[in-house]
Amino acid sequence: MKSLFEPESIAVVGASSDARKIGHIVLYNLIHSKYRGKLYPINPKASEILGLPAYTSLTAVPGKVDQAVVCVPNTLVPSVMEEAGIKGVKSVVVITAGFKELGKEGAMLERRVGDIAKKYGMRVLGPNCMGLMNTHHFMNGTFTNIQPVSGSVAIASQSGAVCSSLLDWSTATGVGFSTFISVGNKVDIDEADLLEYLKNDPNTNVIGMYVEGANRGRELMRQLREASKNKPIIVLKSGRTSSGSKAASSHTGALSGSDKVYDAAFRQANAIRVNTIDEMLDLLQVFSNMPLPKGDGLAIVTNAGGHGVMAADACSDHGLTLASFEKETIDKLKGYLPAAANCYNPVDVLGDASADRYEFAIKTVMEDPNVSCVAVLLAPLDTVDISEVASHLATFAGKVDKPVVGAFVGGTKTNEGIKMLQDAKIPCYDSPDRAIRALGAMVRYKRMKDNPGDDEPVLVDGDKEKVKEIIKAVRASGRTSLSESEGKEILMAYGVPVPQEVTCATADEAAKAAASIGFPVVMKIDSPDIAHKSDVGGVKVGVSSESAVKAEFELMMSKVKARVPGAHINGVTICQMVKGKEVLIGMTRDEQFGPVITFGLGGVFVEIMKDVTQSIAPLTRSNVDNMVKSIRSYAILTGARGGRAADIKSLKDVIVRIAQIALDFPEISELEINPLMVGDEGKGTYAVDALVVLRREN
Ligand code: COA
Repeated sequence: MKSLFEPESIAVVGASSDARKIGHIVLYNLIHSKYRGKLYPINPKASEILGLPAYTSLTAVPGKVDQAVVCVPNTLVPSVMEEAGIKGVKSVVVITAGFKELGKEGAMLERRVGDIAKKYGMRVLGPNCMGLMNTHHFMNGTFTNIQPVSGSVAIASQSGAVCSSLLDWSTATGVGFSTFISVGNKVDIDEADLLEYLKNDPNTNVIGMYVEGANRGRELMRQLREASKNKPIIVLKSGRTSSGSKAASSHTGALSGSDKVYDAAFRQANAIRVNTIDEMLDLLQVFSNMPLPKGDGLAIVTNAGGHGVMAADACSDHGLTLASFEKETIDKLKGYLPAAANCYNPVDVLGDASADRYEFAIKTVMEDPNVSCVAVLLAPLDTVDISEVASHLATFAGKVDKPVVGAFVGGTKTNEGIKMLQDAKIPCYDSPDRAIRALGAMVRYKRMKDNPGDDEPVLVDGDKEKVKEIIKAVRASGRTSLSESEGKEILMAYGVPVPQEVTCATADEAAKAAASIGFPVVMKIDSPDIAHKSDVGGVKVGVSSESAVKAEFELMMSKVKARVPGAHINGVTICQMVKGKEVLIGMTRDEQFGPVITFGLGGVFVEIMKDVTQSIAPLTRSNVDNMVKSIRSYAILTGARGGRAADIKSLKDVIVRIAQIALDFPEISELEINPLMVGDEGKGTYAVDALVVLRREN
């Protein structure tokens, strides 16, 4: 990767004297970014381009070539790759488009490029990319003429257009970039490779990524997690709304669309996901220019009460608290500010505030030990000199160990002040919400940094042979869906408690079984063809006598037969009635990331309530803890409104065991327990239902 980011020599293949051609622009940019290494234009017809001697081919270059930037038409790329391999080039940046984005033939061409690179042990960036910049290496190997300010933000983008927007924005806001990498089609180098380099790059402190899809999901998670321990990673993943959820026979399938999986992956990897480019830019500004806050206490200084209230409201949305000032702070403010000013948080320095008054208030609240960050709000009142406030703020705001951001709320009048602050590397936005959101992201990152969670997965043993046998028998019978009892056998083989139960073929058998289990019992239809039993009248709870069991048996059989004609029915299962809080655990598989475990509030309204969370297995202890805590109904489990606390320990144990089944048996494509009954503390957790589906064999 060093040859990609810090090459000692670069050849531009397809360099041209024609100023309109990409091969010309790339060479021009490399020269004008003051690249210090050796530059070799390659062109079969030219002897000199842009004042540099040109060579007919890579192999004709006299010295070694670390990197080749390829700008020749797509069909010529494989032969250039072969030449690069023969020459011993270490990395190749293929700017050329016309590969897999064009369909089957393009994909074949792209595969050839990848295969040649592998044959010679070369790394490839692209194809179909804009190239790469490293401002600290004085290297602009892209075809954009926007030269970013040098700084500490590295950007990796899957879209060339997003790259140029970010570059243009950087020049307007003064955010400095270390490297800029357009990843293109990712035939070889992907985001995970880049993170592996960037996490150790001394010139990079913040990483921004625009991702459309991952090639190696698990490796991406691993690298994100590692890199985020020291550097905040802000990820903009597009495609949030496209329905990634495929038709699935379980609730879990419908609840875990592919975007949710990305959400889970970024969360587990401690990356900061943003939803819009504005949010990304806001966060890049604050992370690259301000120190991390030590806590979550925010002080607001404003010349307009309304903006102060809006900022205070935004605090709770973004995980900040309004700091309570020490008495000393309040007294000091009272001693200086006019009597009408509010000296409590938010501090209102009043509409006629001068720059001095702002400065005094900001400096005073910054000294308060309960304040970890400051938002300076300004409305363009006639009585305020905006430039003066901005220039005062610029003299001290970036030089203290607490982050300070501005929100100059307006348009024409405030723009100049915003620009002045941004030029002075003080983040400044046009609304209180954006300022608070940016600070909130810093607070969240600081928390993650201080407590990144454990890296070691929790693994448990299960009776693998038993499960293999069950799966084999199901396959032998030509099915992919398991009956409830087969599903439960799998759960039991992995130590997941299930209520005592017996499947009965006749009403008499059912009555006898119920008497031996003890009343009341639950009765459930047992059929591999019915996924949601209650929808077809196949579940009855609280049946409390032998005669009631007999009557319900006949009724249930006739109801289900009428509603699902042709379903194979094994009989009715008589179950011990367990009490507790209903939750759901499910598992689906994602092509990129592997087993996705869903946990949430269970019962028949699960798809309406959508109070679920996902994590990707293998799970660590912290993943399991976070899953349980993150659902909105967590308070119900801990005993809200005088209710009893649920047995959360046994619940977590079941989550771990389900993840283990998912890891041990890739042939299980879906699994769901709904409801999973979590008893009161010490009473255990029971799988009341089990839905297991096997992957179809081709
Ligand atoms: N080695 C070196 N140079 C070669 C060559 C070879 N084997 N074969 C041809 N060349 C030269 C050409 O003679 C030409 O130079 P000239 O102007 O002196 O004649 C130069 O390479 C470029 O070739 P040309 O055929 O003129 O192509 P082009 O410049 O019109 O287009 C690309 C080439 C790569 C720019 C074009 O195919 C392309 O992919 N454009 C889209 C790029 C893009 O959008 N990427 C994604 C961004 S996000």
